[in-house]
Formats: sequence, structure tokens, C-alpha cells
Amino acid sequence: MPDNTADFDIARVRADFPILSRRVGKNPLVYLDNGASAQKPLAVIEALDRYYRHQHANIHRGVHTLSEEATAAYEQARARVAKFIGAGDPRECVFTKGTTESINLVAASWGTANLHAGDEILLTEMEHHANIVPWQQAAERTGAKIRVVPVAPDGTLRLDVFRQLLSPQTKLVAVTHASNVLGTVNPVSEIAALAHSVGALVLADGAQSTAHFPVDMQTLGADFFVFSSHKVCGPTGMGVLWARTDTLNAMPPYQCGGDMIRVVDFAGTTFRDAPERFEAGTPNIADTLAFGEALEYVARLRPAAHAHEDALLRYATARLAAIPKLRIIGTAPEKVSVLSFLIDGVHPLDIGTLLDADGIAVRTGHHCAMPLMKALGIAGTVRASLVFYNTFDEIDRLGDSLERIRKMF
Ligand code: ALA
Repeated sequence: MPDNTADFDIARVRADFPILSRRVGKNPLVYLDNGASAQKPLAVIEALDRYYRHQHANIHRGVHTLSEEATAAYEQARARVAKFIGAGDPRECVFTKGTTESINLVAASWGTANLHAGDEILLTEMEHHANIVPWQQAAERTGAKIRVVPVAPDGTLRLDVFRQLLSPQTKLVAVTHASNVLGTVNPVSEIAALAHSVGALVLADGAQSTAHFPVDMQTLGADFFVFSSHKVCGPTGMGVLWARTDTLNAMPPYQCGGDMIRVVDFAGTTFRDAPERFEAGTPNIADTLAFGEALEYVARLRPAAHAHEDALLRYATARLAAIPKLRIIGTAPEKVSVLSFLIDGVHPLDIGTLLDADGIAVRTGHHCAMPLMKALGIAGTVRASLVFYNTFDEIDRLGDSLERIRKMF
């Protein structure tokens, strides 16, 4: 299969990612664990280097040149995030440590202020633990109850059951935009319209969607949107919580400290509006700047990168499905390039270890989605997760290795 199309030069794209040319043992690396974390282009690596060599100072705190330059660069990164997700205003974008912290922030702040005994939080069976456990904790604190929308055998969400579970008691629907195990893309706009009709808010977990297709806060319909930098080729330990400013400004602070206050007095303290209200202490300035570079880089490659990735998913699905005794877990019509699978009689961990010996990196296990594993009646899967810098040749290497592994057992 050709990797290049008229507007997508895969060799040039791959040359932007130094790590892709390394070897694992004797083999060239085949990196198919992008769902766990994507690799970083030079634009990101160089932004980190540049920041510490030439720009570093604390932000929002100094009148000196370096501090003002660092502040401007930090706020430019916020504007880049806003542009990337179609936010109405950069002030709707709060920087966090990642998707997990963003969800914890909403569950602790909005959840504690707005949930009461008898209220219901609707989750889905395909949520990552990070979109389950913070809500369980919020439910314990407030007396709210968790209800769960099941998943059909092909990996689509049971919207019919969702409609039945939705009621005036529903206060929040927390749903993944794209499943990290199944790849399923959930119809967030439709879910949000239904949720809003009973007065519930919607949190969409964009950890697995933002790297794969454009998202737009003006049309998505969610009230909260969260995602991580490191899955969109940015640094680790960075992420975003998006919500409209009136929603954010009505929420109590999550963590308290410098930069998030208006006036501190022992008689009482007042707080700034969002986003500063939720960014206590010196933030992760360097990684924020590099995150902004990552989003610019990824956006520049679209839509050609998206078309390449789509073709790759179709090719990989057919290649894997042709392997005897291999079963793909998650075949929803709308899915991102995540391929979970099992081979009869071979433990996923053995497959992962043997693939690694061939230089192929995949993830194995429950993928932080134990309730989904329980619903599917399996202990775990092997997961190959692709992104735009993967190639048809790499899929062939995966297929050839899996054929060989299957015959070993
Ligand atoms: N949530 C990430 C994954 O699915 C870490 O691998």
C-alpha cells in the first residue's frame, strides 16, 4: 500500500519525530501504542529547549522583560488550545495536568457544589477509570447515585438504554468521546441534546478523540470537555478543561494558592475568575508552550493526516481480521484507529511480549477500563493504536508477527 498521497508526505512527517528512527533490539521500532501516549515532533522538543535556554521566568508575576515574554507565550498557548478545539474564548480553557486532573477538578468542584442526595450521574460501560472513580467519590460525598449505560456487543453505546435511564434526576452525563479500548466514537452532540432536555450537563472525555479528528466546542454540545497534551504529540503532565466562562466562574476553586486569588485577608479571601481561578501556583510553563506547538503542528497536517489515518485503520482492520483465530474487540461503524484484539489460546501479555521482541510496541491488559472488560467477559486485550505517522508497512509487520505468534501456540 502506498503511504504517500498528493498532500501527505509520510517520510517527511516521520522525519519530524526523532524517536521513530530508533531500533528496539535488532528491529526498527514500530510504535503502535499511541493511545497510551503519542511521540513528539521536533517542534515540541525544540520548544522545550528554547524555553529553558532563552525564555524562562515565572509568569503573571513580574514586570521584567523575561516574565512578560513568558506570560505572553503562556497565554498564546492558551489561545492555540482555544483555536484547536473551537472554543469561543481562550478564557474557557483551563490548563491542568491532564484529562485525569480535569475530570477530578469538575467532580470535586462542580460535583460537590451541584450534586445532592437522589441526583443521578450517568456514566457508560466504556469509560476509562479516570471518568468513573472521581464520580464515585463525588457520589459518596453528596449522596448522588451512579447509573451506567451499557455497550452493545459491537462496541456501540446503547443509546436506547441511555434514553430510558435519562430522567429529571440526571444531573450529569459523563461520556467518552472515543473509547480507548474499542475505538468507538460516541455521538456526543446527540447525547448532549438529550441530556440538556432533562436539565443535565455533559462532560465529554476527549483524551482519545482530539488526536484523531477535529473537535469543535461550538457544535459538540458538551458543557465540559477534557483532554491531554501527551496524546496529541505534546508533553506529558499537561491537559485542558474546557467549559464556558459562566459555568467555570460559578464553580468553587479546586486548589488554592498563588495567582488564583483576588484579595487574601484573614477575614476572608476572594477569587479570580477562570481560568486563573483554577490555576493555583506556578504552572507547568515550559510544557504549556510546547503543548501549543504540538497543537499547531497537528492542525497543520490535517485533513491529509486524517485521511491517511482512516485508510490505515481500514487496512489494519482487514489485515488483522484475516488472521485465523484473531478476534477484533470493537467494530462500531464510527471508530478511531484503535484496534483491540484477542487470539484464541494466546494470553494478551504473551502477545505483547513477543511483539516487543519484534520491535513492535502495543499495549496489553485491561486498559484502565475494568468495568468494560467485565461487561465483555474478558480479562484484557492486546491494543494497537495508530496515529498519522504510522505506515502500511508497519501494519504488515504487525500482521506478519501476529501470524508467527499464532502458530507458536
Ligand atoms: N488512557 C491511556 C490508554 O488508554 C493511558 O492507554
